[in-house]
This record gives sequence, structure tokens and C-alpha cells, in this order.
Amino acid sequence: MTRFYVVGNLKMNMLSREEASQYLTVLRRESSSKRYAYVTGIIAPSFLYSAQFDDLPKSIKKGAQNMFPEKSGSYTGEISPLMLKNDGVEYVIIGHSERRLYAGETDELIHEKLLSVLKYYMIPIVCIGETRAQREAGKAEQIITGQIRTLFSDLSKLQAEKVIIAYEPRWAIGTDILPTTSEIAEVRMIVRQVLTEMFDTATEERIAVLYGGSVKSSLLPQVAFETGMEGVLVGRESLFPYELVKMMNLFEEEAIRRSKI
Ligand code: 13P
Repeated sequence: MTRFYVVGNLKMNMLSREEASQYLTVLRRESSSKRYAYVTGIIAPSFLYSAQFDDLPKSIKKGAQNMFPEKSGSYTGEISPLMLKNDGVEYVIIGHSERRLYAGETDELIHEKLLSVLKYYMIPIVCIGETRAQREAGKAEQIITGQIRTLFSDLSKLQAEKVIIAYEPRWAIGTDILPTTSEIAEVRMIVRQVLTEMFDTATEERIAVLYGGSVKSSLLPQVAFETGMEGVLVGRESLFPYELVKMMNLFEEEAIRRSKI
């Protein structure tokens, strides 16, 4: 069955509890009457407002933007997987390119985080993607392949199939410069090949791959429907609940259309 994900990464936005609560009021209004058979919405707010996001509409699950791999202890400023789990978080974004860039995260650390998210029965949304310079040097395939091999190393098939991958080319984040439909479709193929080599076809088919980077509802055909991607990871546009719900509606329509073919 087709299954799509629309993930809102709210990043370091909303500067007060009041702002977060206004956002939630609008989100509840926009999505209150909607039911989805094929689409899961996920919203990852700042940790500070996580408790306010307990009462989300049924179709939208609570996510987090990052996590430390250890359960508890002397790790000043970090957030533990068990804290997230106990707070009702179901999905954790890890390895976002902004964390790689500003916090120096490596594939090895992200691999550790991935194992930890799974250990505490949450779902990792793990980000991969190349820089502009790497793409221009013809190295996109090599970078993506290397990232997947490290991130999925030592995972059992049962663990691997729970992971969601988000392909976010760094140069498309926050820029309104997008890869072409065929560039995204090509990455989808590369991911498929590497995962099939590492595991098997059945496992590969269960691993959802999303596209992220300057996504808007009007671009869904170009970045998702025609590329084989199973959803989107959205930054700026997720700050508008109306847009987020619109994307969920469009994915639902696309899934219904496919179910009739
Ligand atoms: P934008 O949608 O703002 O380009 O951000 C994408 C992103 O980084 C989502 O995680």
C-alpha cells in the first residue's frame, strides 16, 4: 500500500510559548475534520515547546529535531532518547545538514544516534545529501552511497526497514534552488540500489525515502509524485499550517489516484 509522509521541521523558529500555541490553534483548525488513509503528518518543534505539541490532530505525530545517543548522565545541554520517548515523541530527525554544518556531526555519530532512536522504539528520519561542490564535481552518487553504507552498517533487516531516509541536498535547503525531477529520481534509484545490496529487495521496499529542500505544495509533483519519493521534509513552509495540511491532502489524493490504477 502506498504510504506517504509529510514532515514539518520547525527548526529554531517560534520565539515564545504564545507563538507556539497560536501555531497549534491554526493547525488544529486547518486539520480538524480531515482523515487520512495513506498519509502520516509529523511535526518536529523546538524541544522547549514539545509539551505543547501533545495534543496534535490525530493524523499528525510528534517529532523531534535531534537527540543525544546516551540514555542519561553528564551530557550538559543534551536531550536523551528516553526523555523524548517519555514525552510522546514518535519520530526523531537525525543528521540534518544544519547539524552536520553547525555542530560538526559526522556519519559515525549519526549512526550511533540512529541505533539509539531504534533502541527506544522511535522512528529515525535520517538525513543524507551532498553539497553543491560535491554535485558539481560529479561526486553526488559517491557521497550518498557512502552516507547510506555508514548509517545502515550493522543494522538487521528488521531495524533497517523501520528507518525513514530524507534526501536533502544541502544546496537546496533554504535557497529555492531545486534539483530537477530527474536528479531526484536518480538519487531515489541510487538509494534503492545501495539498500538492496546491503539488505534485500523486500527490506529496501519497506524503507521510505523523502525529499527535502525548498519544498512547497505547488512543487509536490516535481519533487515527489514523479520521482518515486514517499514524502517530503519541509522547513520554511511548515511554519504555515495551511501549507502543511495542503501537502497532506495532495499526497492523500495522489495515493487514492494510484490505488485506482
Ligand atoms: P526549507 O524547506 O526551508 O528549504 O528547509 C528544508 C529543510 O532543511 C527541512 O529539514
